[in-house]
Amino acid sequence: MKDHLTIEIVGLKASAATLASAATWVAFCGPDLAFGPQTAKALQPALAAITIAAKAARFNGKSGQALDMLAPTGLACPRLIIFGLADKAAAPAAAPTKTLDLGGKIRAKLSGGTSSVICEAPGEDRFAAEAVADMVMGMRLRDYKFNLYKTKKSDDTDNNHENEITLLVTDPSATKKAIARQAGVAEGVIVARDLVNEPPNVLFPEEFAKRAKELTALGVEVEILGEKDMAKLGMGALLAVGQGSKRDSQLVVMRWRGVKAGKDKDHASKPVAFIGKGVVFDTGGISIKPAAGMEDMKGDMGGAACVVGLMHALASRKAKVDVIGAIGIVENMPDGNAYRPGDIVKSMSGQTIEVINTDAEGRLVLADVLWYVQDRFKPAFMINLATLTGAIIVALGQDYAGLFSNNDELCERLTRAGLATGETVWRMPMGPRYDKMIDSKFADMKNTGGRHGGSITAAQFLQRFVKDTPWAHLDIAGTAMGSPQNDINQSWASGWGVRLLDRLVADSYETGSGGKPE
Ligand code: BES
Ligand code: MN
Ligand code: ZN
Repeated sequence: MKDHLTIEIVGLKASAATLASAATWVAFCGPDLAFGPQTAKALQPALAAITIAAKAARFNGKSGQALDMLAPTGLACPRLIIFGLADKAAAPAAAPTKTLDLGGKIRAKLSGGTSSVICEAPGEDRFAAEAVADMVMGMRLRDYKFNLYKTKKSDDTDNNHENEITLLVTDPSATKKAIARQAGVAEGVIVARDLVNEPPNVLFPEEFAKRAKELTALGVEVEILGEKDMAKLGMGALLAVGQGSKRDSQLVVMRWRGVKAGKDKDHASKPVAFIGKGVVFDTGGISIKPAAGMEDMKGDMGGAACVVGLMHALASRKAKVDVIGAIGIVENMPDGNAYRPGDIVKSMSGQTIEVINTDAEGRLVLADVLWYVQDRFKPAFMINLATLTGAIIVALGQDYAGLFSNNDELCERLTRAGLATGETVWRMPMGPRYDKMIDSKFADMKNTGGRHGGSITAAQFLQRFVKDTPWAHLDIAGTAMGSPQNDINQSWASGWGVRLLDRLVADSYETGSGGKPE
């Protein structure tokens, strides 16, 4: 949805002229109102008033505090907001995202018009170019609202307060570059949020595929396969799920070639792959879900949305990586033609599956997409994302996604990228004893393993469609949607995973340390 932020970058020294014209000044301070030199100079005429206000508000510069002054005596601006940055050794896991969150906090305070942000505070490294770019991303993500279907504008729904923000920074040219790079990533998160927030009558499989096709404008190759094509490929598992729907199921394969063929042999011949579950609506099928909260199942395509958002991010920042995105898009409906419990379906891999519960449909979709991607592209690694099980929410709540993998190094990389971005993952166990739980009396496997360890048996099911490719499965049922609102997200959909995987790609392929996990 439309961005209502205009960001301008100028040098810190230019402060006097720039500040004079802004309606709101934003400044930062360390402990006990300690200001950086340019800030001190700008605020000097109001120092007495600030000291009095700080005392009255018990503001002492602690991180998370803000001193909001209207018509500050001595200054030309109608409003001054000072954010405290003094941190008592923040938990290391939270530290990398504090600048992102700060951006969100700043955006929350602004109510339109022009603002100047003096990016300076004593002893702070968070105003380096990269960090300021994070701060701007935090503003953009906080700015997001999904109001497409509200016809009556109110102060709450109306996000049309245009904010023109001027950032005064030490190194304008480096900061501009960093912001440009991050803008693509923020857009990618917003693409994913929009897709998850869209209602299921609008976003049916073919419409979803059409939205993915829009990536061609960024130089992404996009192929769309329909039911006939998938039948030819033998995708009996994916097709079974879509059988009860009036809508045609779709498989979308996207490719961003950020590495020229021949230039880097290893990468050029071995792309990396991201795969998403795209159930545009999950009624449960014949094993129908209870009515309460069923509307949330419009978000059962959060994995696929993340993959599209990620492709958007990587292509718009021209990431130096060869990457495949593949999403299986279906609607799971009860119907005279729907698949049933007891059905045995044949997957593209040749393995047969006994359907025990038609509500365990995501794994059937992924089984065929994982097999297809592995078979056709032989990726260096593949990562799938899926709102796969309610059990992962019981296990981990909404702060961590479940991580299941056959590869320790890939897990370490994902864990590190998670801590760096705040999109954290927690590794869960797998093994032959869990695998046995999905053996079937009648077929090669069944699609549920009972109540115990429900997220793990779902992962074991997926692993039966992975050969020796390094693979990770992220169960994002708890993180993709419905999370508590926070500094950088006020919307139902979070766009979870775009920043995490953008970071994983950057760390693995763009800093020179990467390659295939061993
Ligand atoms: N889409 C659901 C999982 C889900 C639940 C996502 C809540 C987001 C929030 C999935 O298709 C499903 O129905 N899983 C079943 C599996 C069971 C039938 C083995 C579940 O979790 O109950
Ligand atoms: Mn289901
Ligand atoms: Zn589902």
